[in-house]
Amino acid sequence: TRPFVIAVDGPAASGKGTIASRLASHYGLPFLDTGLLYRAVGLDVLTGGGDLGDPVAAEAAARALDAARVAEDAALTTGEAGEAASRVAGHPGVRAALLDLQQAFARQPAGAVLDGRDIGTVIAPGAPAKLFVTATPETRARRRWLQLSGRGDTITYEAMLADIQRRDERDAGRGSAPMVQADDAVLLDTTDMDIESAFDAARRIVEAAR
Ligand code: C5P
Repeated sequence: TRPFVIAVDGPAASGKGTIASRLASHYGLPFLDTGLLYRAVGLDVLTGGGDLGDPVAAEAAARALDAARVAEDAALTTGEAGEAASRVAGHPGVRAALLDLQQAFARQPAGAVLDGRDIGTVIAPGAPAKLFVTATPETRARRRWLQLSGRGDTITYEAMLADIQRRDERDAGRGSAPMVQADDAVLLDTTDMDIESAFDAARRIVEAAR
């Protein structure tokens, strides 16, 4: 059988991460959350006292990244890490430094599931199954806010919405691999779906592509 690659892209808190990891378990495929790579690079720049806007420092951090660490580092899931990630993700040198690792992951014999912003467009343009998962900014802000306040974070919903909108603009507006739906990706709008129905819809899209 040919390798089966599932590309899952979309904005923050759209449900793409949960959908992608559940698809990976369902099909028994290895899973890579590529946002964690950018988050780790962003935090490494900050930890080193560097400037997120400095392309040289950011690319050096990306080249030095220990990919094995990213799966276990809880600091990567904070809002601060997400913000730092989206700042460093705009540097072409950072994206180039993380390209081989992501493409090697996608080339595993059975295939793989990857989630991010540019999987269907840049990392795995030949993937047989591509989803672009989205939801309104208000819905995404509410989901992320519930998640973070449940963990004791004191951020307000309004601040969360502003963060989400700023991040969307930055990710969609950058020159290098902007967040955009691939021509052959299927759009999945999860605004009015709970995670179960979103996963079912995603599975049907993938089945149709198999
Ligand atoms: O998906 P997540 O929220 O973890 O991603 C954090 C940031 O990393 C995104 O806002 C985006 O700027 C960047 N990113 C990217 N390309 C990817 C995955 C994430 O530019 N494939």
